[in-house]
Amino acid sequence: MLLPHHGFTILSTENPKVPIENSSKYRNLLTNIYLLPNKASAFFHISQIMRIFVNPIPILFYVRMRIDIISVVPEMLDGFINTSIVGRAQKKGLVEIHIHNLRDYSKDKHRRVDDYPFGGFAGMVMQCQPIDDCIAALTAERDYDEIIFTSPDGEKFDQPMANTLSLKKNIIILCGHYKGIDYRIREHLITKEVSIGDYVLTGGELAAAVMCDALVRLVPGVISDEQSALSDSFQDNLLAAPVYTRPANYKGWTVPDILLSGHEAKIKEWEITQALERTKRLRPDLLETKE
Ligand code: ADE
Repeated sequence: MLLPHHGFTILSTENPKVPIENSSKYRNLLTNIYLLPNKASAFFHISQIMRIFVNPIPILFYVRMRIDIISVVPEMLDGFINTSIVGRAQKKGLVEIHIHNLRDYSKDKHRRVDDYPFGGFAGMVMQCQPIDDCIAALTAERDYDEIIFTSPDGEKFDQPMANTLSLKKNIIILCGHYKGIDYRIREHLITKEVSIGDYVLTGGELAAAVMCDALVRLVPGVISDEQSALSDSFQDNLLAAPVYTRPANYKGWTVPDILLSGHEAKIKEWEITQALERTKRLRPDLLETKE
């Protein structure tokens, strides 16, 4: 859903009058783009937007997304968070990603964070204490919207979930390792369990990286052409239409004539038809679940 520009001067999460929960919902308004996770939430969001428009007092607003990742192999994530679009988003001050080495919270003299499972099962299990202490240290500093655990048995990560999470202000991602984590952490501290697919990775770091990438690119200002996030595959449950660039004829491989016609309305119609055709052919399941 694309909203027209209304030029309001907007908010600060530091402003105690604007609850964090609400202000984070407005983040995407800054660039006039509002990704609605589903139709049901549309009315709520629109009513929130109207509330801003009718507010006669301009509020200053600046919302920065913060992601804290807890890992036993932080080296795996260092390169990823400091390069590419995610690195640039941080340099621009749009996103903060902090990596925490779980071993720093171990009370063991060898900095161990795992132990044998009760019941004589195979593998090692991550212990409660280091995880609990690390999460407690973070939550003592600020409120978190979600404390996510990456696990193959979690809820499947997809574009609607990325849209929803990108509207949050602070999230923690705890990367699983070994045979898993002590189940009591999942019962008492974790608010959401997320899987990036039906396969088992050696640890949750790649899953955390996938999630960060998908979330960060939705934060306004991170990718140069904001609209391109809206025309991505999976937004609106459709695969994206094909794209082409110069030259129009490469080795006899030509570009569809319509794209060279300059006829905006017909090009838009072509784009929709292509998106529908590709979705029907390649991912018919997406159309079945379409609201
Ligand atoms: N950890 C191991 N496998 C995983 C998966 N498929 N998704 C998320 N976290 C995981």
